[in-house]
Amino acid sequence: MATDPPKVLIIGSGIAGLSAAIHFGEFSDVTVLTKVAADEGNTRYAQGGIASVWSKEDSFEEHKKDTFEAGAGLCRKSAVDLCIQDGPERIRELISWGVEFTRDPQSPDEYALHREGGHHQRRILHAHDFTGLAIEEALIKKVRTHPRIRILENRMAIDLIMEGKLDPKPNTRELGRCLGAYVLNTQSNSISPLAADLTVIAGGGAGKVYLYTSNPDVATGDGIAMAHRAGARVANLEFMQFHPTCLYHPAAKNFLITEALRGEGAVLRNLNHHDFMKDHHEMGSLAPRYVVSQAIDLEMKRTGAPHVWLDLTSMEEARFKNHFPQVHAMCEKFGIHPPKDFIPVVPAAHYLCGGILVDDWAQSSVPGLLAIGESACTGLHGANRLASNSLLEAVVYSKRAAVRAQETLTSHQLPKAPRSLPAWEFGRAVDMEEQIDIVATWREIRTLMWNYVGIVRSDRRLNRARERLALLRHEINEDYWKFKVNRDLIELRNLLTVSELIVECAIRRKESRGLHLNVDYPGQIADEAHDTII
Ligand code: FAD
Ligand code: SIN
Repeated sequence: MATDPPKVLIIGSGIAGLSAAIHFGEFSDVTVLTKVAADEGNTRYAQGGIASVWSKEDSFEEHKKDTFEAGAGLCRKSAVDLCIQDGPERIRELISWGVEFTRDPQSPDEYALHREGGHHQRRILHAHDFTGLAIEEALIKKVRTHPRIRILENRMAIDLIMEGKLDPKPNTRELGRCLGAYVLNTQSNSISPLAADLTVIAGGGAGKVYLYTSNPDVATGDGIAMAHRAGARVANLEFMQFHPTCLYHPAAKNFLITEALRGEGAVLRNLNHHDFMKDHHEMGSLAPRYVVSQAIDLEMKRTGAPHVWLDLTSMEEARFKNHFPQVHAMCEKFGIHPPKDFIPVVPAAHYLCGGILVDDWAQSSVPGLLAIGESACTGLHGANRLASNSLLEAVVYSKRAAVRAQETLTSHQLPKAPRSLPAWEFGRAVDMEEQIDIVATWREIRTLMWNYVGIVRSDRRLNRARERLALLRHEINEDYWKFKVNRDLIELRNLLTVSELIVECAIRRKESRGLHLNVDYPGQIADEAHDTII
């Protein structure tokens, strides 16, 4: 008798979701949901590259040391060990799947390696400055021809379906196991349940919580908000990483100027052309990212300047154009001509180091629910991520998630989930006639997060943010239950949830560590060297 194969639902089609799909596809039927087109997400925009020990001069110990140092005392040792040790194998796998990393022109059998902030060695494999796009395209190509994987575009997961909600046990609020998700087809506006034995959240980050961000529009923290509503533990959300160098130009939306430029000799200067990073850290412009962003913020506040400069004049023009064609094209588009001209740059929200708390096999605290990629908190990044360790973490944990899941499913530690689930209930919800409230509230949240929960925080500002967000929560919840849901309303609700979680974590941390700088608690406190778990 043929047995029904395991069904796996993956929410998200970035590097994490797609590489997991390939691994899960070896033993199960996989559905990948993605909010818009399959290639849209943070992955696509990754410039710098993927960090891994690759050259003979480098060692696992050195990569680990740099990761721990960047993480400001909060990295989980097991996560650092396994990520860095598994790195080279996962990179070889990406290459075997068709990812073409840039080769060294001097010895074409070797790959060219870049260096970025916090790294003491060259260890960043890259595809010019289009690394994310090269990875995304290769993975999509592989997944689209895989017989056991289907990608559903324009499908948005609204909420996870929890056993305990379908069949509530008396006197308990246990939500039990995850059975799949309710999914909105954003083209037909219909909602259907999707049943799965295992659900994997690979929904990316939440940069859109902030007014200024390097992230594309899809990065609204949906996966983290959904997992939180399903009772999963989330952690370390106070550690939002601000990238030091986003292009400062009124017409440039979210454009990042890769840190790899600083690895090639570019230097940050204030408006008086002073190399101010030398005053802050022995690594100067190549200091760990939080040190650089906090120093730029200080410099801008001290001088009232709207930006600082990135000076590339030490780089040969041909080298700049060849290594960084995307940055070159974008600058030219805005009338800036590096390396001759300095590039105006500002920090912007970039990467969420916290997320859904998972173990070394990507398992969340909820049975049947896994999390990978930027949505997850594995412990690798601690209080600040080392540059280019994110793509690495995504591929390492995608593999580990599948390895353990195969054991769990085949040994029946997790029995099959029901294949049929109740339909979504619309209740008395009516169509929303206008979107103006959504647009206004969205902007309000992002502005207040930028102003009150930004690079430099204080108790007063955090408490004020908490109060305002609570007021907005009441309004948003009213709309959520009154109107038929659409993508904007769902994202707004998730954005609010993630903002509240960030503020709550920030309030609980009574010290300054890594990316979390609170003027009321300057400096690190040894007793506070633990995760913030909600
Ligand atoms: P993403 O690639 O963001 O994918 C998330 C997916 O989830 C998307 O497909 C989205 O549509 C989908 N999704 C979200 N919500 C839902 C929902 N409700 N329903 C259905 N689908 C949903 N890291 C590095 O290591 N090196 C770099 O050089 C680097 N450069 C970067 C440059 C930029 C400009 C940015 C923004 C980030 C960069 N990062 C870099 C970080 C890195 O790119 C991301 O952390 C990583 O790509 C995240 O991958 P992911 O698969 O977790 O999420
Ligand atoms: C960059 O290219 O500067 C981004 C690298 C990263 O976020 O890891």
